[in-house]
Amino acid sequence: MRKYIVANWKMNKTIGEAVDFAKKVKAVTLGIDENFVICPTNICLKSVADELKNSKIKVGAQNCYKESHGAYTGEVSPAMIKDAGCDYVIIGHSERRQIFGETDELVNQKIKLAIENGLNVILCIGETLEQKENYKQVLKAQLQTALDGVDANGENLIIAYEPVWAIGTGKVASIEDIKNVHAYIKQVAYNELKYLPPVLYGGSVKPNNAKEILELDDVDGVLIGGASLDVNSYVEIATRR
Ligand code: PGA
Repeated sequence: MRKYIVANWKMNKTIGEAVDFAKKVKAVTLGIDENFVICPTNICLKSVADELKNSKIKVGAQNCYKESHGAYTGEVSPAMIKDAGCDYVIIGHSERRQIFGETDELVNQKIKLAIENGLNVILCIGETLEQKENYKQVLKAQLQTALDGVDANGENLIIAYEPVWAIGTGKVASIEDIKNVHAYIKQVAYNELKYLPPVLYGGSVKPNNAKEILELDDVDGVLIGGASLDVNSYVEIATRR
């Protein structure tokens, strides 16, 4: 089964650097049969999507707003993201939640509008270090609110499990924890959606730990931050399984 290899560049790369990456990644992924998705900053979306138009690599935004248009200075709507040539959008990343105060209710509104506009959503959930003991409760609450009333069809919603304490820290969840948590997420998501969405792991995924993680049956792919900024390390992750 193909796995998702998703790059979250966060606030990195100029347009020139992003297009340069896109050119290279097209060439080096030619013989690799995985679902590649690259999420640059909004200002790079159109240029990267144009560069990757006739390739198998899809492009996604890192966030969107919950309204289609209007007086929302600085925000971008799902329709605009789609218009830029994207197929995906990340919603509810822990940096959005922690730095910009996004709530599960806002995440839910964004997901609904993104799906209505034909985008595939990558919904991020995850517990903080303090919540680690109660991860089931935390993840269940995040999922139930975020997915409330969401009309997902099996292809347009992906869940990314990203323990907050593992993001950008070099600390990866143990293989045993990833197995257990992914199985739990699938169970809760199935109750909400009535089908099993793909579940990705994110948090300090690197070429040297990707193989073990991607080999797990309940892991349908990875969401990569730091290690996705370099084209070789990004592609190396996809080839390590
Ligand atoms: P990281 O980030 O791979 O740098 O830990 C992952 C993410 O935030 O999606």
